[in-house]
Amino acid sequence: MHIQTLAVQHLHAQDLGAVVPPVHLASTYALDPATEDGPYAYQRGANPTRGQLESLLAALDGARHGFAFATGMAATAAALSPLGVGDEIILPTSVYGGTYRFVEEVLPARGITSRYVADLNQLTAEDLTPATRALFIETPSNPTLRITDLRRLVDLAHAHGALVIVDNTFMTPVLQRPLELGVDVVVQSATKYLGGHSDLLAGTITTNDDALATAYAHAQKAQGGVLSPSESFRLIQSIKTLPLRLERQQETTAAIVAHLRGREEIAVVHHPGSHSAEEAAIHASQATGTGAVLSFELAEGLDRVRFLQALRIPAYAVSLGGVESLICRPATMTHEAMTPAAREAAGIGDELLRLSVGIEHADDLLADLDQALSAAG
Ligand SMILES: Cc1ncc(COP(=O)(O)O)c(C=O)c1O
Repeated sequence: MHIQTLAVQHLHAQDLGAVVPPVHLASTYALDPATEDGPYAYQRGANPTRGQLESLLAALDGARHGFAFATGMAATAAALSPLGVGDEIILPTSVYGGTYRFVEEVLPARGITSRYVADLNQLTAEDLTPATRALFIETPSNPTLRITDLRRLVDLAHAHGALVIVDNTFMTPVLQRPLELGVDVVVQSATKYLGGHSDLLAGTITTNDDALATAYAHAQKAQGGVLSPSESFRLIQSIKTLPLRLERQQETTAAIVAHLRGREEIAVVHHPGSHSAEEAAIHASQATGTGAVLSFELAEGLDRVRFLQALRIPAYAVSLGGVESLICRPATMTHEAMTPAAREAAGIGDELLRLSVGIEHADDLLADLDQALSAAG
């Protein structure tokens, strides 16, 4: 079944033929006093509405198991929960700032070390040590849209007995399904495209690995951080329009990228595949689209603040993936937790701007960018 159909139909007709699933709000469930058993016991462990969402998440990724968390960071934290003392994790230098914060400020106290690599495509078996337990990859990366060859890194990591975890927030299962390429675990900030309306926070994990699934179910129960039934319901509803939204957002983004590349007021535009022909070929081999985020820098002499003040449509705000366009400055906003040296290694300059393209009309966005560029000159 196509993902457009799955997103709408997967949960239909499961309950009295209702075309939207019910919301089960109960925090606790009566048990049979004789067996002290029942299908549900307490909401943190399992909940029918969250379970429906988790079944939908698994279906979209072609996964055996899906898990829903209260935020993307809760999902990332849970995804890394099987790691322990003495383990090392390898990440790209260009990675979401909150992931960097978690890895740098939380994992060391658990005896877990980290290593950052500028271009994961150059990683070889010699770079992995006996301690290397996991690769945590964003492709495209946030915010420089670098591409990592997932098939190659899966082979490399698995030969070494290490896990590959992919943050697929920028692509979603509509554009990229890492589990089908052999990746062990996919996390997403569902706050972004899955939610799609800048009005909820959520995180997801999908996997085909039964042992990891047991660990993630345990993380839900033992650490909490699960998604509530009402937010699970809202996410189920939002996912129904995910393919439609993303297709339109992607189309408009391609028009904006082409337009900005032709403007002398723009010094550089980053978009999946823009860094090299090799990265473009890798991306084309593992994803079916380039998504709806770009980042760029204004040419020298242009005033960034005047440009941002002149913009009428994109709000100057963190986050991405919503129907409304947003623009931000990663160095001081989404990636402020990184040290200046880490930002430099990631290619995140002080002038870099990240634009998340919404579903406004492309002509209006192009005209808005043009008038703001004129105002910045
Ligand atoms: C790529 C990526 N992963 C994870 C997260 C964290 O998600 P959340 O804000 O839902 O905790 C974000 C948030 O911006 C992100 O951009």
